[in-house]
Amino acid sequence: MREDARDAAARVNEQRLWQRHAEMAAIGAIPGNGVNRPALSPEDIQARKLLLSWATARNFTISADGIGNLFVRRPGTDANADPVLTGSHMDSQPRGGRFDGIYGVLAGFEALEAMDEAGVITRRPVEVVAWTNEEGGRFSPCTMGSMVFSGARSLADVLDVTDNEGTRLRDALAQTLAATPQAAQRAFKSPAAAYIEAHIEQGPLLENARNTIGVVTGIQGLRWFNIEVFGKTDHAGTTPLALRKDAVRDAIAIINALTDLTRDPHDITRFTVGRMLVTPNSPNSVASHVLFSVDIRHPDPQRIRELGEAVEPAARKAATVCDVKVIPTLHDDPCVFNPEVAGVIEAAAQTLRLPNMRLPSGASHDAMYMARLCPTAMIFVPCEHGISHNEAENATPADLAAGARVLTASLIELANR
Ligand code: GLV
Ligand code: MN
Ligand code: MN
Repeated sequence: MREDARDAAARVNEQRLWQRHAEMAAIGAIPGNGVNRPALSPEDIQARKLLLSWATARNFTISADGIGNLFVRRPGTDANADPVLTGSHMDSQPRGGRFDGIYGVLAGFEALEAMDEAGVITRRPVEVVAWTNEEGGRFSPCTMGSMVFSGARSLADVLDVTDNEGTRLRDALAQTLAATPQAAQRAFKSPAAAYIEAHIEQGPLLENARNTIGVVTGIQGLRWFNIEVFGKTDHAGTTPLALRKDAVRDAIAIINALTDLTRDPHDITRFTVGRMLVTPNSPNSVASHVLFSVDIRHPDPQRIRELGEAVEPAARKAATVCDVKVIPTLHDDPCVFNPEVAGVIEAAAQTLRLPNMRLPSGASHDAMYMARLCPTAMIFVPCEHGISHNEAENATPADLAAGARVLTASLIELANR
């Protein structure tokens, strides 16, 4: 390992990194040590302002693109060289934890500070990015910021998405962008030399193997759908069952059919219905309309394709009396990360004598879209019992700092290539 990379890794400040997690966790704090910081909400704006206040104190430069992805840059000696990027997201699930996403942003920022304190000079600029709306808990789909940045979907295509209260993304986005006027305008698809995302594992493999660092090899495929069931509202006490068009009953029939479709004795296929909106949502009225989400994941490209294609026919067949609309909202093929970047991460972990292993990601990350633009890989650190998307999500200050050290060394290596 280069000497300057070793010096900067040693400057990673475990206490400061932990303290910053605590400061961020106070924004949108919920009972049980959790966080509710929806994308483009007042809490998201507060988190952005806090990050920018730290960046300004270090004289780092700030930019934002049209979907609100926020970039903090530490310059290199060659201003024309494409930057090396790192980062993750600051939005959370509605009942999220203190580490999912925010760790990758704070570890990236810690890396920039450690470089400053070690007096490291890199050829390429190094930038931390906070992607907009990674979670998709408020505005669907997830990984929206990196999706639009990478050109996989246009900005115009997502502006009219609404949240459960009917707020349009375009309005929440305009408010968010207006709150950080100091950010210079950044183009979508602006070139990058490489991208590394640090994240808690959100699964139990590292903890079980007593490893501190995960070198992530790729991300499994993901399909999202919204399924709408159109029935007719009626009196719950007087309307004979035979005369009803009950949207909830048909929604249940469809969910049962999809459960059968995705049944897997090896427990590799993942199937989740996590969001359900019922109209009129009254105990004594038959439901006239149900909208529910479908999330299906599998690491094999062929299998995830087959499953994705089978959703609509299975849903139509299962419905008994209601009309059904199946709307695909996300189609992510499995992604394989760049072996060279993974090798840089692995070498850094070895040199820093941190026990490490290669592993795939079950969760989606913005790295999936960055992998389309530039050589990309990820660093995982353990989280307690693999619990995530839950207030109880936990990680140790030492593991978080270890991941930040590997990140710092890897960024310096890549920023001098
Ligand atoms: C990201 O949070 C995902 O759903 O995998
Ligand atoms: Mn995340
Ligand atoms: Mn998440």
